[in-house]
Amino acid sequence: MEHFEINGGKKIKGEISVNGAKNAALKILPALILSDEKCRITNFPFVEDTQRMAEILEDLGAVSEKNVEQKIITVDPGGISKTKLDDILVRKLRASILLAGPILAKFGEVTMKHPGGCVIGKRPIDMFLDGFEKLGAKITFDEGGFFMKAEGGKLKGAKIFFPKITVTGTETMMMTAVLAEGKTVLENCAMEPEIPVLAEYLNKCGAKIKGAGTSTIEIEGVEKISGGEFRVIPDRIEAGTFVMMGLLTGSNIKITDCVPSHLGAVIPILEKAGAELEIGEDYIITKESRMKARSIDTHEFPGFATDLQSPYTLLMTQAEGQSLIHETIYEGRLFFTDQLNTMGANIIMCDPHRVVVTGPTKLYGKKLVSPDIRAGITMILAGMIAEGKTTIENIYQIDRGYEKIEERLKGLGVDMKRITVA
Ligand code: EPU
Repeated sequence: MEHFEINGGKKIKGEISVNGAKNAALKILPALILSDEKCRITNFPFVEDTQRMAEILEDLGAVSEKNVEQKIITVDPGGISKTKLDDILVRKLRASILLAGPILAKFGEVTMKHPGGCVIGKRPIDMFLDGFEKLGAKITFDEGGFFMKAEGGKLKGAKIFFPKITVTGTETMMMTAVLAEGKTVLENCAMEPEIPVLAEYLNKCGAKIKGAGTSTIEIEGVEKISGGEFRVIPDRIEAGTFVMMGLLTGSNIKITDCVPSHLGAVIPILEKAGAELEIGEDYIITKESRMKARSIDTHEFPGFATDLQSPYTLLMTQAEGQSLIHETIYEGRLFFTDQLNTMGANIIMCDPHRVVVTGPTKLYGKKLVSPDIRAGITMILAGMIAEGKTTIENIYQIDRGYEKIEERLKGLGVDMKRITVA
């Protein structure tokens, strides 16, 4: 068992570089199933979630070579022939639903268990299943899982309208349609920056995708696609989290290797709340700022990302005044605020989607348990500004999305260690 210990109350300084985006790496791996040829992925984040996804590919028959130091993984999908996803691995990773489409498109069938929900919400897969059916899959359900078969052995292009904007749903249908016969039109698509880069890679490999990054995507099916090289874009959520870390600690830090425009509404909202930031093409510098309360509603890109709601909620505990945080996407992402209250925050939950934060409040070190990736990193930030020692348990949830976070933060002067108890 491992936990983090943080001694708070210290200013930080220096530079921290942003790693490759977990949520981009998690999509390129399943996309490789569409081809028989090798792909070299650079700037790959070796976090727990991406390693689980690589393990699932290996279990299906892919061969991968990893160079953690250089952040490179090379995957040869040529040996994949299995169409049944491992039950245990699927349950460990909600994003495993992304694999269903490419396997179905390439081999005409796929069997998998339901990937399940998680603490941040129910996370249904109805829009995925509706999309597969529209593309010509017949779905049979059995205990806890399903089997899908393409009628006539091959999927057929179709028009799919997403009733609700879904990131992985958009990505899955876009990949799946690459090998379907004829034209697919996806409407009301998500527009997150990870989507156009995935399309760009697939197009370089021979796919015909138009409109990725807008709300309508058109895919003309092709017979096969080749291998290639993919560079994972910088993690916009990590970048935004580090910006809030600089503001929370009132420190001058430089966040490098990021793409500020990928933060969408986050930067303008932070600036309206009083943040003084210097923004370059691939860096952001935070300055000591007097923060004022400002309400937010989370929204799909380019709105305020739900994945940055938790550090922002913490930031509002240090801002002057009252703010309403409206988490519109997930019904389980605000419960961590209970733990901030034990540290001294003043956060009142109106309902699972809304809390009112009154600030500024002094925080004191406490024993916390990380419920999910984003609440977990927020607890680290809370520990950094609290007086005394904070202990955070269940840190697998933090390792799922942030690679060796304690080593990277130590570089800025954070007094933090990972403790392993046998
Ligand atoms: N939804 C449905 N039916 C579906 C699919 C989704 O009702 O079939 C609902 C969800 O319950 C949710 C909403 O649609 O209320 C949006 O979910 P979406 O499908 O967009 O989420 P996701 O694609 O599963 C990705 C990220 C999340 C991020 C969201 C929103 C990955 C692997 N995950 O999830 O990242 O919060 O988009 O931006 O890309 C994280 O990294 O910590 C994380 C949770």
